[in-house]
Amino acid sequence: MSRWRADFPGLDQVINGKELIYLDNAATTQKPEAVLAAVDYAQRIDCSNVHRGVHALSLRATASFEEARRKMARFINASSSEEVIFVRGATEAINLVAHSWGDTNIKRGDKVLVTELDHHSNIVPWQLVCERVGAQVEWVPVLMNGTLDLKVAHEILSSGEVKIFAFGHVSNALGTINPVQEMVAMAHEFGALALVDGAQASPHIAIDVEDLGADFYALSGHKMYGPSGIGVLWGKIEHLAGMPPWQGGGDMIRSVSIEGTTFAEPPFRFEAGTPNVAGAIGLGAASVFIEEAGLSAIAEHEALLVNKAAESLAEIKGVRLMGEKSKRVGAVSFVIDGVHPHDVGTLLDQEGIAVRTGHHCAQPLMDRLGIPATVRASFGLYNTLEEIDSLQAGVEKVVGVFA
Ligand SMILES: Cc1ncc(COP(=O)(O)O)c(C=O)c1O
Repeated sequence: MSRWRADFPGLDQVINGKELIYLDNAATTQKPEAVLAAVDYAQRIDCSNVHRGVHALSLRATASFEEARRKMARFINASSSEEVIFVRGATEAINLVAHSWGDTNIKRGDKVLVTELDHHSNIVPWQLVCERVGAQVEWVPVLMNGTLDLKVAHEILSSGEVKIFAFGHVSNALGTINPVQEMVAMAHEFGALALVDGAQASPHIAIDVEDLGADFYALSGHKMYGPSGIGVLWGKIEHLAGMPPWQGGGDMIRSVSIEGTTFAEPPFRFEAGTPNVAGAIGLGAASVFIEEAGLSAIAEHEALLVNKAAESLAEIKGVRLMGEKSKRVGAVSFVIDGVHPHDVGTLLDQEGIAVRTGHHCAQPLMDRLGIPATVRASFGLYNTLEEIDSLQAGVEKVVGVFA
C-alpha cells in the first residue's frame, strides 16, 4: 500500500465493476485533499482579483497568489520569485519563450535544436518561430534504446549556428531521463541557450534550476498533483529582463497613454490579464504536498513500481517494451505484437485499469521507433505494487483474447 494513497479521493472509485487502477499519471495526476482544499478556499472564501484592489479580499487573494509564486520558486530552487512566471502549462511556457525570446533573438539562417524524443509542445512552437523568421529546426535523433544520440547534438551545436537547444527533462512517451546538465553545458559551450521542458520531471525528480544551469525551465501543474490550467515558466532574470511582452493587456504594464505603453518588470510583464488565481494557489499547495512527501521517498517508491512493471510486462509473450530500462522514471511504454494499442487500452479499461494509448504527442519518436502508437502505463506516488500485479494480469488477459 502507498502511504500517500488516502490523500487522493479520486482514486476511491469503481470503474466497470472494478476498483480503479489509475496508471495514466503522465497525462494528468489525481489531486490530493490539500490541493482541493486550497483551490476551494481560494474560490469560496478569498474570491477576488489580484494586484488590483485595496479591499481585504483582494489583499488576501494577492498575498496567497504571491505566496504561491514563492513556493514554486523554492520548489525549483530559483534564486528569486521574480523568475517564476505563472502560465497555463508547459505548452504556454514554451510558446512564451518561442514568441518573446525567439522572435527577438532568432534570425534568418539561425538554427533551433530540438529532439525526436520531445512532446509536440516542445517541437511545434519552435517550428512556428522558425517559419516566422526564416530559421531552421534541427533534430537530435533518438536511438532504439530510447536515449538521445548526443554525438549528433554536439555536431550540430558545434556549427555555432544554434540559438537555442530545447529538450525535455523526462520523456513523456518512454520515461527516459535525459542528462540535462551535460546537454545544457553542450549548448552553452557553443553559445546557444537551453530550454528544458520539465513537465514530466516535476512529480518525480527534485528540480534545482540553478544546479541544472538551464536558461528556461517549463512545468505543468496538473502533472504534479496540482490543478489544470496552471504551470510555470522559470527563466534566468537576465534573459527575462530583456524580453518583450508576448501578450498585452491588464497587469503587465507600467503605464498606458495615447502616446504608448511602458511595461512592468518580470514576472508581471508576461502575465497579461487576470491570472488563474485559484490554480496558482493550488499549484503552490501541490508543491508543498510533494516537498512534505519527500522527493527521495517518492523516487524510491516509484522506482519499485517502474522496475516491477517493466520486468513483469517483459515476461509476457508478445509484449515488447520501448526504451531503456535503467534510466527511466514514471512510465513504461509497450506494444503487443498483432494487437492495436487502442484495443489493449479498451480491454484494460474493462478491468478498471486506466492507461494511455496512442502516439503520446510524440509522433517523431513513434516514426523513429517504426510504430504508430504504444500503450503507456505511468505512475504516481499513490500507485501500489498490487496494482502492477493487476496490470500484468490484465495484459496477460488481453494477449489471451487475441491469441
Ligand atoms: C513532456 C511534456 N511536455 C509538455 C507537455 C504539455 O503540457 P500541458 O499540456 O500541460 O501544457 C506534456 C503533456 O503531456 C508533456 O508530457
